[in-house]
Amino acid sequence: MYIYNSGMYLKSLYANNFRNFRMLELELQPGKNLILGDNGVGKTNLLEIVYFLSTFGSFRTGENVDLLKFGEPFFIISGVYGDTKVKVRYSDKKEIFINGLKEVRLRDSFGTIPVVALTSNDLEIVDGSPSCRRRFINMGISLYNRTYIDTLSWYNRALRQRNSLLNHAKMGKVIKGIEIWEEQLSHYALPIIKARVDYIDKLIKHTVPVFNTLAGQKLELSYKKGGNYRNLKEQLKKMRNKEIERGYTLYGPHRDEIIFKIDGHGAKVSASFGIKKALTVSLRIAQARILNEVRKEEPIIILDEIIGELDRDRIDLLSGLLDEYEQVLIATTREDVQGSGDFNVYRIEDKDGTPVIRKGLKEIHSI
Ligand SMILES: Nc1ncnc2c1ncn2[C@@H]1O[C@H](COP(=O)(O)OP(=O)(O)OP(=O)(O)O)[C@@H](O)[C@H]1O
Ligand SMILES: [Mg+2]
Repeated sequence: MYIYNSGMYLKSLYANNFRNFRMLELELQPGKNLILGDNGVGKTNLLEIVYFLSTFGSFRTGENVDLLKFGEPFFIISGVYGDTKVKVRYSDKKEIFINGLKEVRLRDSFGTIPVVALTSNDLEIVDGSPSCRRRFINMGISLYNRTYIDTLSWYNRALRQRNSLLNHAKMGKVIKGIEIWEEQLSHYALPIIKARVDYIDKLIKHTVPVFNTLAGQKLELSYKKGGNYRNLKEQLKKMRNKEIERGYTLYGPHRDEIIFKIDGHGAKVSASFGIKKALTVSLRIAQARILNEVRKEEPIIILDEIIGELDRDRIDLLSGLLDEYEQVLIATTREDVQGSGDFNVYRIEDKDGTPVIRKGLKEIHSI
């Protein structure tokens, strides 16, 4: 069912001054890789490097300066995926190099190394505000549709402009030209919702069976639109006075919502912690399957803990589901996860404040 492009995995990783790694050089294997180590040794930091090479951002901080090794002025990270080398250098700004050539626009190389990450933060997709669910959808689409990133940023620019005018009007100032922004919002909303409708169809197709395997329950996923997309321009015009009272735009894709129901009940309010975890895992696996279906490329799957937070049966089930990927990197403190499948085991240990990585008995990188 899935297309394997053999050789499409992360072959090597390099980092200099990233978090607690002064110098990291690591050869990686295809298949399921388990990164074991005590709390605080640098397991998440290692996965963060992989994620950063794909999205040029972190899954746990919005501030790139947090990634600089304490006291250092720059970091460099790179990875080789198939035949492609992606390198990022950051000092006060980010510079991206693909096969040695500097990229002018960051978003043109977004997702060159396709990565899907499962992290503890994912719980916010179920428990967080609607914006967390929109971010999840936006990220999923952006990994294969770069035009979407542009359209979304143009839409957001128009939204900021209109909101600013609404605010001025709220303060009693005379405003001009709001129709231009309404026209633009309406114009850009169309490709955004088209991509979202398409993505959510795919998401339903892939998430529902995975969730059923992991949780044995029935999941329904629906898309609640944030406006009248047949004629958003008219709607915005009609609601303008009400929106002036509020000072912001009440209708449009920035108000879209995704709803999860499990066995007929709202997941956010009714599902247990473990079942919410199973739901976020299913959503991420679906995201990976969609990437594979659309890009015909194997995303690298990274799991920061997660697996160790599930019960024994679900660890085995998830481990089985992960067999379909060319490369999976799993960080955990739990030694017993090894019993749930065939893993290449790496260990990170702290040696006088520096992380040292071992594969078997062999120390495979030096500082
Ligand atoms: N900018 C930084 N510079 C240097 N060290 C850092 C930086 N940011 C975090 N650290 C260090 O990295 C270590 C934490 O690493 P990380 O979060 O990867 O641990 P972990 O192995 O995932 O632990 P856990 O099992 O608790 O999740 C801490 O010791 C922390 O002090
Ligand atoms: Mg961690």
